[in-house]
Amino acid sequence: MTGPLLPGTDAPLVPGELVVLTDRKGRRYLVTLEPGAEWHSHAGVVPHDELIGRTEGQAVRTNRNMEVVVLRPTREDFVLKMKRGAQVVYPKDQAMILAAADVRPGCTVVEAGAGSGALTLALLAAVGPTGRVVSFELRDDHAAIARRNVERFHGGTPPATWELRVGDVIEGLAGLHAHRVVLDLLEPWAVVGAAAEALPPGGILLAYTPTVPQVMRCTEALWEDGRYTDVRTTETLVRPWDVDGLAVRPAHRMVAHTAFLTTARRVPARDDGGPPPPRRRTAMAVTEAAVTEPAVTEPAVTAG
Ligand SMILES: C[S@@+](CC[C@H](N)C(=O)[O-])C[C@H]1O[C@@H](n2cnc3c(N)ncnc32)[C@H](O)[C@@H]1O
Repeated sequence: MTGPLLPGTDAPLVPGELVVLTDRKGRRYLVTLEPGAEWHSHAGVVPHDELIGRTEGQAVRTNRNMEVVVLRPTREDFVLKMKRGAQVVYPKDQAMILAAADVRPGCTVVEAGAGSGALTLALLAAVGPTGRVVSFELRDDHAAIARRNVERFHGGTPPATWELRVGDVIEGLAGLHAHRVVLDLLEPWAVVGAAAEALPPGGILLAYTPTVPQVMRCTEALWEDGRYTDVRTTETLVRPWDVDGLAVRPAHRMVAHTAFLTTARRVPARDDGGPPPPRRRTAMAVTEAAVTEPAVTEPAVTAG
């Protein structure tokens, strides 16, 4: 195969294709179709030959007379079922990352770390055939998993728009030119300076960080660098709903927290004609000192 067929393509399923099988309880299974192979689960057995040649959405019976539905997987189906090394960026955050970093066709995006390749798949889709994604990953084992996932999702061959480099993104950014730098790693503040070298003015840095201290350090580093402006942090909550006849209400469970997104625009330094530094209430050192002081009920007076 040269690439995966889009879900919703009016063509029968062929050997080598990835499919997602869903049983009556809503359990999902990711399967690569191979002539002569069998799929086994609690629901029973289905020979792959029973699936090859079907069209999407058909229900197939197992040898235990249970029905499963076959569909081509969406990127979300794939990411939720693919093999993982590192924690992945989930679809709700992927969507916001693409929006907040304005990743669009033709963009060159530098990403680190590649981890399991989940965010890589979203970035590759967004940059399209005219863009480029360069993914850095420090660990060999994670890089191997990311490569395998990207290849598998793309029908066995990674897109020509993707380059995976095993190594430290801080060193790797030297000499690169990127419209966007997207960071999902422990210490994004350590990458802020190198990213500013690779991003031209107007470019965007985005850091995905699970904890508040990471947001604080990253934000501080962005302002301290002097080559960024418009530094913002958001968090995305998606609340699923149960909709069943008249019983329509929010689901009992939701994912309450994944991570924060911090974005910043690259600008020239002040000496090169860039904007003035922001008027901030507190620098981080002051914030740390403040924890030992009595709580104030009024907003602090703006410094400067
Ligand atoms: C949470 S995972 C990334 C998951 C990935 N975004 C995904 O959606 O599958 C973080 C990865 O960053 C890698 N990493 C940490 N520091 C790095 C650095 N300086 N350069 C490159 N990769 C780094 C780690 O090895 C780890 O695999």
